Amino acid sequence: MTTPLRLGIAGLGTVGAGVVKIVQGQADLLEARCGRPIRIAAVGARTRNRDRGVDLSPYGWEDDPVALAKRDDVDVYVELMGGSDGPAKASVEAALAAGKAVVTANKAMLALHGQALAEAADAAGVPLRFEAAVAGGIPCVKALLEGLAGNRVTRVMGVMNGTCNYILTRMEGAGLPYDDVFREALDLGYLEADPTLDVGGIDAGHKLAILSAIAFGQRVDFEGVTLQGIERVSIDDIRRAGDMGYRIKLLGVAQAGANGVEQSMRPTLVPADSPLGQLEGATNMVVIEGDAVGQIVLRGAGAGEGPTASAVMGDVCDIARGCAVPVFGVPAQTLAPARRAATASPHAHYLRLSLRDEPGALARVATILGEHGISIDRMRQYDHDGGDAPVLIVTHPCRPAELDAALGRIGDVPFVAGTPVALQIQGV
Ligand code: HSE
Repeated sequence: MTTPLRLGIAGLGTVGAGVVKIVQGQADLLEARCGRPIRIAAVGARTRNRDRGVDLSPYGWEDDPVALAKRDDVDVYVELMGGSDGPAKASVEAALAAGKAVVTANKAMLALHGQALAEAADAAGVPLRFEAAVAGGIPCVKALLEGLAGNRVTRVMGVMNGTCNYILTRMEGAGLPYDDVFREALDLGYLEADPTLDVGGIDAGHKLAILSAIAFGQRVDFEGVTLQGIERVSIDDIRRAGDMGYRIKLLGVAQAGANGVEQSMRPTLVPADSPLGQLEGATNMVVIEGDAVGQIVLRGAGAGEGPTASAVMGDVCDIARGCAVPVFGVPAQTLAPARRAATASPHAHYLRLSLRDEPGALARVATILGEHGISIDRMRQYDHDGGDAPVLIVTHPCRPAELDAALGRIGDVPFVAGTPVALQIQGV
């Protein structure tokens, strides 16, 4: 019999249990595909005596993930605990130092320590794989690393936090304000233990920084991601954006230009009839553009037992087959230092303001925009209905700095009630 590949699995939550189920339930299929059996040698979690719906009795048990990572009978350390530092990082470092391959679903750890871990993996000559860290079951890491290796990637976009997409599409569908839907999502158990990771865009920002490193051959630069969460997206803007033919998504965009790499994760308008615009509920989507391939769109479940375990097992199978791809696509030492773009590239913007019913109010706003070199593409004013009138403006592409300067002045105009809202529109 050929030599089995032996796994040590740390973390037996939803994803860990899902991995055990696949290894147990698909043993023949995995062996046929990998040319060798996949076995579990040992597992570990914070609590031992809990019903996880899987039989763990055949496996060794380790309370200490570092000890699990270093076990002689473990070939691949599968880290499914999470957390950017602490036991997850310590055990992954221990595994790499001991010459073990590592598979992880830990986006925060890779976003913050990806370079050091990739260098450690290269130094040990072992794989470090992380398909499950980005967009759950969607094989977007593999797509970038392998299928698109012949391309110069120009842009990567993604809706990579299912909870935020659930909240935004539910607000729209039910006509509910953010706070109500946030509470619903909390009750449904959709949110991370620290909800800011989801609604603040941090979780999705981690994922974007990881994809960006592969796409543009640069060191992971999470600090370079401009982050804005969905907490201030109003049902008004969702409705008004819809009137103008757009939907609001928590959209990640990483793009390379002469100027450097721009990375942002923020509420963004996309055309309602585009694949991104049509994305409903907790589903994720990753859009990749390359000079040779054009645009590809990958859509699927971004979280959950089956999809995330599927991604982990894809990595395990690659290791079993002996596939060797550098962690971020090129040897870690040759990844370029992050090249942050000095100035943001121009984009069309959606503006919403409330104007008092006074002669010259709209003209004053248009004049200020014009004085900052911002041209209006489309505009719509609703009726005053006894009070201030909402005005929607879609601009031609302009730089955020020009827009900020104009909005600063518009906010001071006495005809304008409240603070104007400005959101970027992404051409997709
Ligand atoms: N909380 C994430 C989401 C899944 O809602 O998509 C884990 O990254």
